[in-house]
Amino acid sequence: MDLTQKILKLKKEKKAIILAHNYQRPEIQDIADYTGDSIELSRKAMQEKDAELIVFSAVDFMAESAAILNPSKKVLLPCLGARCPMAQMLTVDEIKRAKKQYPNAPVVLYVNTLAACKAECDVCCTSANAVDVVKSLDSETVLFGPDKNLAEYVSEQTGKKLIPIPENGFCPTHLLFQPEDVTVLKMQHPNAMVMVHAECSSEMRKVADFIGSTSKICRFAKESNTKDFIVGTEDGILHRLRKENPNKNFYLAYEGAICPNMKLTTLDRLYAALKEEKHVINVPPAVAKKARASLDRMFEI
Ligand code: 13P
Ligand code: SF4
Repeated sequence: MDLTQKILKLKKEKKAIILAHNYQRPEIQDIADYTGDSIELSRKAMQEKDAELIVFSAVDFMAESAAILNPSKKVLLPCLGARCPMAQMLTVDEIKRAKKQYPNAPVVLYVNTLAACKAECDVCCTSANAVDVVKSLDSETVLFGPDKNLAEYVSEQTGKKLIPIPENGFCPTHLLFQPEDVTVLKMQHPNAMVMVHAECSSEMRKVADFIGSTSKICRFAKESNTKDFIVGTEDGILHRLRKENPNKNFYLAYEGAICPNMKLTTLDRLYAALKEEKHVINVPPAVAKKARASLDRMFEI
């Protein structure tokens, strides 16, 4: 049996489901039961009533969200080192300081945060729903973290004042994109549409035809009549885009846009995780309860 067959056999025996984020390596996406964006996957897991084990091929905060939303299932992160650097940029102390300074401003946190931070906010959001979440709030001033670029984008879309916490949170991978690279690609593919993730800089947003989350980018490409696309998000998404749209062309706006943490999950590590049931994601119950409430408020919106 090759490694893929061994994983599939073990998966069946253990009543496990494998979830893979859109940035995972192609072979991980291909073996997964579902590929999707950060929160879509946790919701899929909630619908899988018979599954006992969730192998979450992604980064730390995504597996934590799955554990919070699926308390009766065991959630595994195949590689413990797979941590989102942006999620590490915000601390609970920072949130408390900001709340003291702006006591009337609600706190909205991007799901790219650790559970302890989610527990301190009023409502969570993803890049797919951040605009709707902020629009739904009564307040004209909102504390928003940890992505400053997403905060800027949401502020542009809603006309509200978003105060970034921390002052300068960012995704190191999305920061690599430069509009000059898009200009060069546009000369080669003049009819191409430019799709960028909302974590990109304002300079990148200005040259974009479409701005959204990973799942929204996939949907846009599928529904569009355009044949050529320049892509301003992590390289892993190209696999899904090409698989779903075999007659369309996708060009990464910057070849080096690779999230090293997302690439830590390999088939070997996935197999070891499934076999040894490691690494179990445990969120302290008190934190999980409060973080769940922040996620549930987002789902209600
Ligand atoms: P999505 O929610 O769009 O999948 O984004 C998560 C992420 O980490 C983007 O860098
Ligand atoms: Fe975090 Fe950026 Fe990697 Fe997404 S691409 S997981 S935001 S570091």
